[in-house]
Amino acid sequence: MNQIKESFVLVAVQALALLLLTTVPLLAQQAATSPVIQQTVPDNPLHPSGPVQPIPYSHKVHLALGLTCPLCHTNPEPGKLMTYPATSTCMTCHAATVDKNKAAAQKLDPFAKSQQPIPWVRVYTVLPGVNWAHRTHLQAGMQCEMCHGQVAQMEVMSEATSVVTMYSCLTCHVQNNAKSTCNTCHLWP
Ligand code: HEC
Ligand code: HEC
Ligand code: HEC
Ligand code: HEC
Ligand code: HEC
Repeated sequence: MNQIKESFVLVAVQALALLLLTTVPLLAQQAATSPVIQQTVPDNPLHPSGPVQPIPYSHKVHLALGLTCPLCHTNPEPGKLMTYPATSTCMTCHAATVDKNKAAAQKLDPFAKSQQPIPWVRVYTVLPGVNWAHRTHLQAGMQCEMCHGQVAQMEVMSEATSVVTMYSCLTCHVQNNAKSTCNTCHLWP
């Protein structure tokens, strides 16, 4: 009797293991084939670590909550910048009254009270004088990840790609038949 019971358990365990073996790779495969937008510009060969920010904000943590880029990054007139979020955007979740994450609330509170924008340290900078705007690129169907990499996986934002170099601008322009004469991006000749 005991033996029958044991073998039953064994079969059940085997069935469960089989189920896991077949479904886990399937799930992994689904994740792999779900539309990940590929980075198209080369990596930054220097692999710099990100600057120290006034608050240790994590894209990975927040994008895992299902938040999307436009909640925090808008493209106001004249269309050059994607801008940083207002402190009030953070406070919708981190106001001391609603937030269970005491550490986050404590760090954000002084900025919310003084109504000062958080002095985020910029990561990507194109050489001044180069003609650049996000708007033209977003309108041409370019997506954030093509130029900034897999942001949703980034614990700390860093200059992960070489998008601010002339080589990266030109390579993508040539690939997409976008204008590539010197005066597309420079004031001269
Ligand atoms: C074609 C490449 C490209 C695409 C697509 C792109 N960016 Fe950028 N991004 C840049 C470059 C280049 C800079 C540096 C710009 C500068 O120095 O003014 C930058 C800078 C930024 C900045 C810093 C603040 C600012 O506005 O300059 C933020 C934030 C940003 N990008 C977010 C985004 C988000 C969000 C998306 C998608 C909606 C996006 N970017 C799409 C190339 C790109
Ligand atoms: C939609 C709600 C929401 C918004 C908006 C939001 N957060 Fe959060 N944030 C969370 C949640 C939920 C957690 C806790 C996640 C966890 O512990 O897994 C968190 C965690 C944090 C943490 C702590 C991370 C850690 O390691 O524990 C900091 C710091 C933080 N957020 C800062 C910000 C800042 C700065 C903004 C605005 C730019 C912001 N948050 C906007 C929901 C939000
Ligand atoms: C909850 C708010 C929030 C969301 C959602 C969010 N970001 Fe950000 N993002 C920030 C904050 C705050 C910073 C400045 C701090 C930092 O660099 O980590 C930032 C910085 C950046 C930068 C660096 C800009 C620079 O050069 O200084 C890029 C690129 C960027 N975000 C892209 C994205 C993309 C792409 C998405 C969507 C996939 C996204 N962000 C979603 C809040 C957000
Ligand atoms: C991921 C691809 C990609 C990258 C990287 C990229 N661009 Fe572009 N860019 C395009 C495309 C596509 C267009 C064409 C838009 C159109 O014709 O409607 C464009 C258009 C432009 C325009 C407008 C040209 C015109 O028709 O007047 C300028 C200026 C420009 N890019 C500058 C830059 C600069 C500067 C960089 C690097 C910092 C850069 N781009 C990086 C794809 C890219
Ligand atoms: C698609 C945009 C784009 C085009 C087209 C382009 N450049 Fe550039 N160029 C850049 C960017 C971005 C930088 C800044 C690179 C950096 O900071 O590493 C730059 C920097 C330079 C520099 C060094 C810095 C400076 O401004 O003095 C020179 C020289 C230069 N480019 C020459 C040219 C010449 C010549 C052409 C035409 C054959 C050209 N570029 C076409 C985007 C472009």
